[in-house]
Amino acid sequence: MKKILVTGGAGYIGSHTVVELIEADYTPIIVDNLCNTSIQNIQGIEKIIDKKIKWHNTDCTDKSAMDKVFAEEGRMEGAIHFAAYKAVEESVQNPQKYYDNNMGSLKVLLQCMQENNVKNIIFSSSCTVYGMPDVLPVDENAPFKKAESPYGETKQLCEKMLKEDSCNSVALRYFNPVGSHSTALIGDCSADRPSNLVPIITEVAIGKREKITIFGNDYKTPDGTCIRDYIHVVDLAKSHVKAMEFLINNTGKHAFNVGTGIGVSVLDAIKAFEQTNKLSINYSIGPRRDGDIEQIYANSNLVKEKLGWEAKETLEKAMISAWEWEKLKE
Ligand code: UD1
Repeated sequence: MKKILVTGGAGYIGSHTVVELIEADYTPIIVDNLCNTSIQNIQGIEKIIDKKIKWHNTDCTDKSAMDKVFAEEGRMEGAIHFAAYKAVEESVQNPQKYYDNNMGSLKVLLQCMQENNVKNIIFSSSCTVYGMPDVLPVDENAPFKKAESPYGETKQLCEKMLKEDSCNSVALRYFNPVGSHSTALIGDCSADRPSNLVPIITEVAIGKREKITIFGNDYKTPDGTCIRDYIHVVDLAKSHVKAMEFLINNTGKHAFNVGTGIGVSVLDAIKAFEQTNKLSINYSIGPRRDGDIEQIYANSNLVKEKLGWEAKETLEKAMISAWEWEKLKE
């Protein structure tokens, strides 16, 4: 069984990936200090897979603690690096926190990998590296624009660090992950007050918020609201398994978009939630949000060609699972 180190494996995308790795016969080893997630996800993983999972309660920026993890685990096929802060607004208020943690953890991980002869790494990147692309759907050759936030900047800089290191790497540039595992046993447990669209919709549905404000309806899009590419988190998790298989058989540096290729407006996303869950969502139109781009969706041809991966789940299924998670989470 091939051991894979999964930093941030108790987080939203990390926990879903751990489940998919196990289903593909890998042995994931989680490194997570739970600083922005909950033990609920570790327990949820164990319920889904019906066995215990190996978990180190370790801060990835702590080199000596990471040395101990590598010494204890011995031979590993590769690492998947999720551990990072992700609140865009907080990154504007406290950029240093983002530079220290997001780049610091990758630096330590790459050092440990080199010292222990672990060659393969998959990195959680984001479509935010493209800023507002000139051509849509955006492909991997689009230039990196000036980052909209320090969070976005850390994604660009981490991709650069990977290019300069001797490892074999895949940067997966995620579009907008939504939904949860069908069991509703794992999901987004971050402490941050949600600022992403779907968690806000579910909070309105359950009564934690009175309404959702749509940030602008005067964009040059068919209904005036922004367009994004919403990808089911289980599909996204599966792309990591494909990327690990690819890295085990290929060397070099690679970057792939991971999206559905379908652009969905904010109003369409709200409608999809309402129709699938037979609920009505109270919304109003507000001003544009600073830093929002008008539209972005993926050209996913490369990931299909090289990894044999494509999105299979529908937005409707994602909306059903998002609602189940909101109802069941602690
Ligand atoms: C942001 C980040 C992205 C990150 C992602 C997940 C940028 C440019 N993008 O994406 O890198 O990976 O979060 O953390 O930094 N919306 C509303 N009302 C709301 C909330 C959202 O209208 O209350 C709209 C937004 O204007 C946007 C869409 O919903 O058009 C999606 O927003 P959000 O879920 O926050 O994701 P992004 O901003 O696309």
